[in-house]
Amino acid sequence: GPVAVLMGGDSAEREISLQSGKAVLAALQRQGFAAQGFDPRDEQIEALRDYSCAFIVLHGRGGEDGVIQGALESLGVPYTGSGLLGSALAMDKWRCKRLWQGCALPSPAGQLMASADQPCHIDLPVIVKPAHEGSSIGMTKVVDINQLAPAWHEAAKYDQQVLVEQWINGTEYTVALLGDRALPSIRLETSHEFFDFTAKYEDPTTGHFCPSGLDEEAEHELGEMCQKAFAALGCNGWGRVDVLRDDDGKWWLLEVNTIPGMTDHSLVPIAAAQAGIGFDELVVAILGEAL
Ligand code: DAL
Ligand code: MG
Repeated sequence: GPVAVLMGGDSAEREISLQSGKAVLAALQRQGFAAQGFDPRDEQIEALRDYSCAFIVLHGRGGEDGVIQGALESLGVPYTGSGLLGSALAMDKWRCKRLWQGCALPSPAGQLMASADQPCHIDLPVIVKPAHEGSSIGMTKVVDINQLAPAWHEAAKYDQQVLVEQWINGTEYTVALLGDRALPSIRLETSHEFFDFTAKYEDPTTGHFCPSGLDEEAEHELGEMCQKAFAALGCNGWGRVDVLRDDDGKWWLLEVNTIPGMTDHSLVPIAAAQAGIGFDELVVAILGEAL
């Protein structure tokens, strides 16, 4: 049967997923694959039985968090990217942190805040985020204690679990992983306080630098740390690890995206291009990891 390109869904990142999905579908068709778009918001999951493979380009909850991966396991349909466990863990920023701490992998101090008035044990500034969202949705930087309760309410709109994390002054980098390779790192620059939704998708002044300007040793160290962080969660296939480099040059893991954006101008395709892998070749390689 054909390849189903799963896109859309009903998470807060639906629109990004539709853009990613369209680009992946077009690439597969250009490469001669029989491929069709499939939006699990409109269609019955059972219908995926008629497909040879699912290329999952869903972002956020319901698609990136193990739910659809579990359904595909039950149906016996092979799929791209991480399995149920890795997907579920990567979507939970709090549990990622605990796991990484247990593996001596650096990640900023964090605390779950069950209510707006719960005391925060982390020194300000902090960043308050929904524990299971993507694309910086619902995130606020808090520098003054009076901003904490409103920030909690903003994050709580999206999630029952709100994570408070130590703010790290530094520069954001991201590392795309493909199979057992770390692709060249990307350094991100924004005039915003952090990579909020607008900086990610709307602001033309957001800068992506690849090569990132790290020396060979730092690049190698970063790539290895990201591969370890990915493996620690049980992730595989492909993904993207977001990290910060503080002003002393120390690395801090932020999160793993098991189904990162795949629009033509997304970060993973930029890193792949730097490694000499074009968009279509990247898509075919991701599919190849599934089969
Ligand atoms: N969560 C978005 C899609 C990304 O990480 O690229
Ligand atoms: Mg994310």
